[in-house]
Amino acid sequence: MDDIDKVLVSETEIKNRIVELGGEINAYYQGEEVAVIAIINGAIIFVADLIRELRIPLKLDCVRVSSYRNETSPQGRPEVIDRIRLELKGTHVLLIDDILDTGNTLSEVVRLFETLNPASIKTCVLLDKKARRSVEFEADFVGFKIPDEFVVGYGLDFAERYRHLPCIGVLRPEMQNPPEWN
Ligand code: IMP
Ligand code: MG
Repeated sequence: MDDIDKVLVSETEIKNRIVELGGEINAYYQGEEVAVIAIINGAIIFVADLIRELRIPLKLDCVRVSSYRNETSPQGRPEVIDRIRLELKGTHVLLIDDILDTGNTLSEVVRLFETLNPASIKTCVLLDKKARRSVEFEADFVGFKIPDEFVVGYGLDFAERYRHLPCIGVLRPEMQNPPEWN
């Protein structure tokens, strides 16, 4: 917690909002079965808490996506590097990520999943950093809208660190570039 400038969303705020979000999702699907697909690693903690609020039949699987977030990589599309094992044809799919930022990741995963002919695809994110969007994309279920600041905790990382913090905090700028972490 020493590396955090300020807490943006507290542990209690996260807990309360997840109960509400679960209610919204339950109401939307009305008892229909859903395949919940978590984009890992970031969505792990959010998904674990959110699905325990769901009162609909569901199956769970994960996808791992490479984002090419550093400048040395080509400006390629995010790539799904570990595919799901569930059969999604004719299934309602709820894709879950930790944060919607530029929109590249979710829009690309949605595009890929559409080719599998699911009955429907909806998306749910804990955080929405709308100011950063570079492709047109909105999530169907959003936990919190946040300003354009780099945040960690509750699944969100910087160089795989801080995922275990129970709240969402803004990382101190001087911690965003420690050369020994790259
Ligand atoms: P997008 O493709 O730009 O929408 O980025 C989505 C991914 O970028 C998320 O799944 C996160 O892994 C990462 N990301 C974006 N903003 C942040 C942040 O503030 N903290 C930590 N990870 C972030
Ligand atoms: Mg990440």
